[in-house]
Amino acid sequence: MGIYMNNAATSWPKPEEVPKAMYQFMTSSGANLARGSSSSRDLETLDLVTTTRERLASFFGGYKDEDPRYVTFTSNVTEALNVVLKGFLRPSSRVVTTSMEHNAVMRPLRRLESERGVKVTVSPCFSDGTLDLERFEQALKEGQDLAVMSHCSNVCGTIQPIEEVSKLCRQYGVPLVLDSAQTAGVLDISARDLGLAALCFTGHKGLMGPQGTGGIVWEPSFAERVKPLVEGGTGSLSHLQVQPESLPDKFEAGTPNLPGIAGLSAALEWIRKTGLETIREKEKKLGELLLEAILDMKKLTLYGKKTMQGRLSVFAVNPQDGDNATLALKLADEYGIEARPGLHCAPVAHETLGSFPQGALRLSVGYFNTKEEISTVIKALKTLV
Ligand SMILES: Cc1ncc(COP(=O)(O)O)c(C=O)c1O
Repeated sequence: MGIYMNNAATSWPKPEEVPKAMYQFMTSSGANLARGSSSSRDLETLDLVTTTRERLASFFGGYKDEDPRYVTFTSNVTEALNVVLKGFLRPSSRVVTTSMEHNAVMRPLRRLESERGVKVTVSPCFSDGTLDLERFEQALKEGQDLAVMSHCSNVCGTIQPIEEVSKLCRQYGVPLVLDSAQTAGVLDISARDLGLAALCFTGHKGLMGPQGTGGIVWEPSFAERVKPLVEGGTGSLSHLQVQPESLPDKFEAGTPNLPGIAGLSAALEWIRKTGLETIREKEKKLGELLLEAILDMKKLTLYGKKTMQGRLSVFAVNPQDGDNATLALKLADEYGIEARPGLHCAPVAHETLGSFPQGALRLSVGYFNTKEEISTVIKALKTLV
């Protein structure tokens, strides 16, 4: 078995409870949601989906006493961000984002810019990936209808000062949308405490769930101002030819990924039992070992923060001789180590870090990595560079 160092792409392995819950759903309960009668299987499915919404509302500090109706399921954070951005931004709206974004934010914004005339401001970040708060405040002062940003860079692990960002957004009355792809399941996030308009999450990274799951935790009055991206059957209010206005149905047309929701629910329960603090501490300790060794290797350039302060255990490096794709290939072929080279769907982040267009090799640690694996990775890097 190889060594998996690509947890920023998707966490692996998953806790065994996750595939078990999916198998159980598909082989026993397995009814559709709100599209049957009141058989025990219909009720079990309804219970599964409602319980998962409740778990998510509680996990992410949802609004109105963690009302589960304000949790929307999507197939990933990309879809969640598209639902929010395309449903909220109107012709000539103004939106501010940062120069560290993933294309899950950038591409919908660029389309809205070209097709709806939305004015997009990209607020600059420092070369370690941290948002320049003065410049961000300047952008807010100029007048914005929305702010959207990732909580942590998927390229170099830099965590953004989200408390300060949220304070500024409240001060200027700008709704804030968070892409929590890299932090959900690793850092404690409360949508309510941060005053987020929408918290977008993906189920298959730190949340330890299956691919094809994700969603949105909404601030209720903001949700009212967003138009649905997809319309169709909801299993409810079938006499209407128009999409229901109430949540969760407003944003959930079509049969959801029910086996995925079963897996995500089990993953959330696994996180609750394991403890966020335990997960974070373990990843941090392993990251510390790797970071120290990387800093010792003179022939390896590290992008982003040079300490564990304000970062997750996601490291972007480049060999001074040779390129990151060849290094990734050799790590895989000669040592069975899986890591991701290139641009990580985030060209603007690489520009900010000074690693565009060549990209970098990303090594991302996960909860199930071991100290021994980190030692092997260090030895392999030392030999190869
Ligand atoms: C910061 C960030 N945003 C968005 C995404 C997109 O995630 P998904 O493919 O699950 O939609 C990722 C995943 O790589 C990410 O790291």
